[in-house]
Amino acid sequence: MTNPVESIRKKRDGEALSRPELEELIRGYVRGDVAEYQMSAFLMATYFRGMSEEETLVFTDLMLKSGEVIDLSSVPGRKVDKHSTGGVGDKVSLVLAPMVAACGVPVPMISGRGLGHTGGTLDKLEAIPGFQTRLTLDEYRGVLLDVGAVMVGQTAEIAPADRKMYALRDVTATVECLPLIAGSIMSKKLAEGIDALVLDVKTGDGAFMESEEKAIDLAQKLVAIGTRYGKQTVAFVTEMDQPLGFAVGNWCEVVESVECLRGRKVRDLMEVATVLGGAMVWLGGKASSIDEGMRYCSTAIWSGKAYEKFLQLTARQGGDTAPLRDPALYPRPSYSIDVVSPASGYIASFATRQIGILAIDLGAGRKKIDDGVDPKAGIVLKKKLGDRLEKGEVFAVVMTDNQQAGSHVVAEMQKCVGVSQNHFQPPPRIRRYIDANGVRPWTTPIIH
Ligand code: URA
Repeated sequence: MTNPVESIRKKRDGEALSRPELEELIRGYVRGDVAEYQMSAFLMATYFRGMSEEETLVFTDLMLKSGEVIDLSSVPGRKVDKHSTGGVGDKVSLVLAPMVAACGVPVPMISGRGLGHTGGTLDKLEAIPGFQTRLTLDEYRGVLLDVGAVMVGQTAEIAPADRKMYALRDVTATVECLPLIAGSIMSKKLAEGIDALVLDVKTGDGAFMESEEKAIDLAQKLVAIGTRYGKQTVAFVTEMDQPLGFAVGNWCEVVESVECLRGRKVRDLMEVATVLGGAMVWLGGKASSIDEGMRYCSTAIWSGKAYEKFLQLTARQGGDTAPLRDPALYPRPSYSIDVVSPASGYIASFATRQIGILAIDLGAGRKKIDDGVDPKAGIVLKKKLGDRLEKGEVFAVVMTDNQQAGSHVVAEMQKCVGVSQNHFQPPPRIRRYIDANGVRPWTTPIIH
């Protein structure tokens, strides 16, 4: 039996840990023998010292084996999921899962809660009254069979080490670390019974990997791990220099997603959702190329099938579909406060990470493990990068029940927008495509 203090010391001093040492640490943590403060110290040491490639693989494998690998062989078809490394206003999963399921590809999706300054799909789904994200494995299979998609959180059976560690990383500033992200994402994804995986690796101010170079490195490592486990895995590096879409918060993001499922064209959100969705439909064997898969996804939207699928999924998981059909039925925040621009010009930057942090200040995310979230809290932008903005014009609305937090966030939001006197052309949203054959720029759809 190894001593956790010894393993923490070794990592602190930059040494690589062996499989038995990592195993003892992870198993001990799940059992409760390694204390939260010891795991916090280990995570911080890893944040500074990193892990070797071999250690990252072992770490991922141990996280995966802390629970079960779900058997979905009773569900016909190739099962495909997508996972994002996390962003601000990243509501892609809410649009994508029903859209891809409507194309006939089963989507078993296990998501997380808010992490660091980013939002989490689970918190968004739980903003829908009654929506159950805690299902037993039998219920998980049952919903997938009935609806063609299922959206849940980790259970005690699915990578429980990640479930515990994820919550701890969220409140110990240990998120932005490549091996920890790789282990966290891939352990969950490899456990959920999929055949193929699409990864959305974000880059930019609002992403954990700010530089494109680091995002590509992470994408390559995630693809390599997936491939090694026999799952067809592809990744896209996508931009996170502004919130995706307009809404940042839980319920307001659900509303925006439903609007998109009903045909609203929020360009950046729908571009990312359609490209990732196209890749999922192709990997699911229902299209001969990503391009063709993208066309099927667009059809699923305009035909209304994707929207119907989301209503069906919500109802099947215990959620109330009435406020999805009519958002006016949802409780309103006590305060909705306009944020006006301090200057005129073209929007050349958003402090995206800071906007994510401000949404947490409003109550949309957690500062401590056991904090609750307020589904009504959030920020809705009125403008995107490159848009013209006049001094005194409203560019965002802050929503909260907490008046003091609201005033603070309104003042801070004014500093989150940068204007230029020159036209500003926003950068492309989808930067790279990565698969087992390497990295390619993403310019036009890839025909396979
Ligand atoms: N998503 C995850 O599931 N884990 C991370 O560490 C980052 C994003």
